[in-house]
Amino acid sequence: MISDRSKLENPYEDHLATIIDYRDLTSDTRYYKLKFVDPEIQKHTGDYRPGQFAMFSIPGVGEAPFSISSTPTRPAFLEFGIRKVGSFTDALFKKKEGDTVYIRGPYGNGFDMERMEGKDIVIVSGGLGAVPLRSVLLYLEDKRELYNNVFFLNGARTPDDMLFKEDFLAMHAREIIETHLTVDKDPTGEWNHNVGVVTTLFEKINGRVDNDNAYALICGPPVMYKFVIKELLEMDFSKKNILMTLERRMKCGQGHCGHCAIHGVYTCLDGPVFNFWDYERMVELI
Ligand SMILES: Cc1cc2nc3c(=O)[nH]c(=O)nc-3n(C[C@H](O)[C@H](O)[C@H](O)COP(=O)(O)OP(=O)(O)OC[C@H]3O[C@@H](n4cnc5c(N)ncnc54)[C@H](O)[C@@H]3O)c2cc1C
Ligand code: FES
Repeated sequence: MISDRSKLENPYEDHLATIIDYRDLTSDTRYYKLKFVDPEIQKHTGDYRPGQFAMFSIPGVGEAPFSISSTPTRPAFLEFGIRKVGSFTDALFKKKEGDTVYIRGPYGNGFDMERMEGKDIVIVSGGLGAVPLRSVLLYLEDKRELYNNVFFLNGARTPDDMLFKEDFLAMHAREIIETHLTVDKDPTGEWNHNVGVVTTLFEKINGRVDNDNAYALICGPPVMYKFVIKELLEMDFSKKNILMTLERRMKCGQGHCGHCAIHGVYTCLDGPVFNFWDYERMVELI
């Protein structure tokens, strides 16, 4: 991806990318692995930050933003987790391995991973929120020595609804990052991890986080934020160090169309990562 906009004559330029792998993550969400067709563009695949997103386009269908789920530390390809919800994603799901889509980006602020070096990090995700935070998790695994304690708390409705479940079970087993997984309920009877909403996992980390030197990164369904933030504030987390990625309808991704603006803030430029301090001033964001 090209993060230095000056490298492009036209910042809206789409680049053709091939689907080199895909698989179903759940009944409605699919993993995609992509590689740029042009070798010059492919050299820049790793020029992004965890938490940034890309605009996909399919001629004759339209465009849609999706969070990058891979890590820039593994720059040979881009990975995404995409839920089928409407016309664009319907068309995308008809594509197979070897087919192409256009991609432009990366867009948004993403997470400032350098700023978090030396700190404790608590990552909390629910549902589709695992997609952007997987980028952070893989990045942290690759640069683990630069960070202090890292905890990952992830929840889903049932085991079959957990995105990247195999990846996260493997992450749990690797123990590079302390990983705790939970489901609201377990109709399978085969789930060997926690059962309960994601906040029930906080008892695993209570008293073990250096709250004065810690960041929390959250992404999940709107209802999750309220309860997770309550737990973090009770742990005395600084509001500025609670970071969350938020989605709004976007069109250009570059601060031109005004589609994503609220109270003069362009969520495509100033977000999608905001801190809780921002959130309190712009309650409409969630
Ligand atoms: C910064 C950003 C990152 C995103 N990352 C991902 C991702 O990693 N994976 C993923 O599956 N989706 C992600 N989305 C949402 C994705 O862009 C939309 O689901 C997609 O645009 C829907 O297009 P469609 O034409 O298939 O559906 P549409 O026909 O446009 O919509 C179908 C349904 O989905 C709802 N919908 C559409 N767009 C959004 C949206 N932005 N937020 C919430 N609901 C929406 C509509 O209200 C409608 O109910 C992201 C959105 C943003 C803004
Ligand atoms: S999406 Fe166009 S200004 Fe943000």
